[in-house]
Amino acid sequence: MIFSLEAPSTEYKESYVDAVRAFKKEGLWWYADVSPEQLDKNFEAFVDELNARKGVTTLWAIVDGKYAGRIDLRHELTPALRIVGGHIGYDTVPAYRGKGLASGMLRKILPLAKTIGLIEVLLTCDDNNRASIQVIEKNGGVLKETKKIAEDKPLKRYYWIPLN
Ligand SMILES: CC(C)(COP(=O)(O)OP(=O)(O)OC[C@H]1O[C@@H](n2cnc3c(N)ncnc32)[C@H](O)[C@@H]1OP(=O)(O)O)[C@@H](O)C(=O)NCCC(=O)NCCS
Repeated sequence: MIFSLEAPSTEYKESYVDAVRAFKKEGLWWYADVSPEQLDKNFEAFVDELNARKGVTTLWAIVDGKYAGRIDLRHELTPALRIVGGHIGYDTVPAYRGKGLASGMLRKILPLAKTIGLIEVLLTCDDNNRASIQVIEKNGGVLKETKKIAEDKPLKRYYWIPLN
């Protein structure tokens, strides 16, 4: 699928707010506290804040003028990110899944990770998230560890991608 990877912009407000509604509907926990109504009211401030964050680069995948996915590159690991999150996180809007978007977003952001001085990146992923496992392994991810981080959660996989 043809897409561009762009800095967040108010241009994509409508499709972004729709995407958040879809993510909440499927129960993605990292959107649990996000309110589509608040976003709709304060979108410009939201976008400004995303673009101003230090230590994280957020890029949006745009398909035919609409928001289709997001990828975050965290420049440094914290103890918490070493357990859940790693350097890179992403999601694809449900309607655009299974078309290579997340694989393409990850492929495109790896050179940026190298540019900021990283020599390898950590990606964490649930052991039952087949799609994300595929995305990471297709991009050269090497599984270094699988461990239980909570009794009621799936095992967590820890992948490293060397940046050659
Ligand atoms: C994981 C996710 C980002 C994948 O996005 P996507 O744009 O559909 O990914 P791609 O189209 O690049 O697909 C990657 C691979 O996963 C496979 N795949 C897609 N959905 C799948 C599913 N439900 N079960 C098994 N494999 C699946 C695809 O076939 C593809 O493999 P292939 O290229 O060998 O055919 C998306 O499902 C998502 O947003 N999930 C919720 C958020 C999330 O889990 N984020 C990652 C946290 S680690």
